[in-house]
Amino acid sequence: MGIGAIIGAGIFVVTGIASANYSGPALVLSFLISGVACLFTALCYSEFASMVPVAGSAYTYGYVTLGEIWAWIIGWDLILEYLVIVAAVAVGWSGYIVSIFTSFGLILPSTLINPPGVEGGIINLPAVIIITFITWLIIRGARESSNFNAVIVIIKLAVILLFITIGLNYINPANYHPFMPYGWSGVFKGAAIIFFAYIGFDALTTAAEEVKTPQRTIPLAVIGSLFVSLILYIAVAAVLNGMLPYTEFKSTAAPVAFAIQKVGIRWADIIISVGALCGITSVLLVNLFGQTRIFFAMSRDGLFPKTFSKLHKNYKTPVNGILLVGVIASVIAAFIPLTSIVELVNIGTLAAFIIVSTAVVVLRRQHPEIKRPFKCPLVPFVPAVAVIFCFFLITQLPTVTHLRFIVWLVIGLIVYYFYGRHRSLLTGEST
Ligand code: ALA
Repeated sequence: MGIGAIIGAGIFVVTGIASANYSGPALVLSFLISGVACLFTALCYSEFASMVPVAGSAYTYGYVTLGEIWAWIIGWDLILEYLVIVAAVAVGWSGYIVSIFTSFGLILPSTLINPPGVEGGIINLPAVIIITFITWLIIRGARESSNFNAVIVIIKLAVILLFITIGLNYINPANYHPFMPYGWSGVFKGAAIIFFAYIGFDALTTAAEEVKTPQRTIPLAVIGSLFVSLILYIAVAAVLNGMLPYTEFKSTAAPVAFAIQKVGIRWADIIISVGALCGITSVLLVNLFGQTRIFFAMSRDGLFPKTFSKLHKNYKTPVNGILLVGVIASVIAAFIPLTSIVELVNIGTLAAFIIVSTAVVVLRRQHPEIKRPFKCPLVPFVPAVAVIFCFFLITQLPTVTHLRFIVWLVIGLIVYYFYGRHRSLLTGEST
């Protein structure tokens, strides 16, 4: 499940953006830095997941430990994260479908595959189409089954290994020079962008309820899937940057397939594109589903209008919440460039990671007596490192992203003040 939720548009799409604009061949270092931030945060998430094994992830942990206002902030923040991630992953999907069409000689009009401001674009139509389709599937009650997930994971791993195996033969060491074209500052900025590729392990912890021995299995799964992703990401980054000069990735939305196209192995290019498309689709499904769960939990707790937790008569799904998510994500995907979307996802997620890591320490102090099936090691050192790394990555994002995030939080506090505060079922008490 971890790999199913983690590996997607990040490695298949965002690597190109990060390498071309920030990290250059030192993308491997960027992957390492954001990987460390995630590994430390994952240990904190695991402690909560084993204690509070319920759906709703960080939002629920916040409610239980820090009280309603913090829960609201986390929930509002997660809405941003999941909403925008759906948009980002859909734009990644669009890049690969366009690449497949191109492989068959079909050139789609640039106006219909790009947002305004990018190569004469008007709307990113493929992204809207895939979100509409996934929204429809989720309204009908679709969830990833573990068998489906297993198949997708095998496909994803197979195409990544295929890419590495082929790519290794086409490495030109000259492409690694200069290694850090934008200096350390570029490497750090790249880390803040490529952090996107690791997001998803938090979704894994929500399955803690369904695990026999969560105290062992969840940390193992979280750390294990992160570790596997880290190794694969570093290998892909090294091969990708060895195959082509980093500047070549400026103009592509499907860098992994692009590199293979450039060396002229057509069959592999098509297989990799189709595999990437499958992998990205599954990440889309997990995230759209995850978002509707958070809406559902917040609406059930009274922080959001009841209509978002009302279930459809036949499908038994919260249709209104799902539709709202689908529509907003489509609008974002249609009209906003990928980099801006990814930055927004990352700041939202990093903020949630900081709150969760802090909450581990707070709860240890406030309620040391609670049974913790899995204990994050070396508290408060590990949570402190997680917070420092995540905070550092936030500082590496552009100021405009900080401003957008602050505006989002202010809107959230206004909504809470005028709506949630009065209607909350727990009226401010943490339970
Ligand atoms: N980690 C997820 C991806 O790369 C969001 O698609």
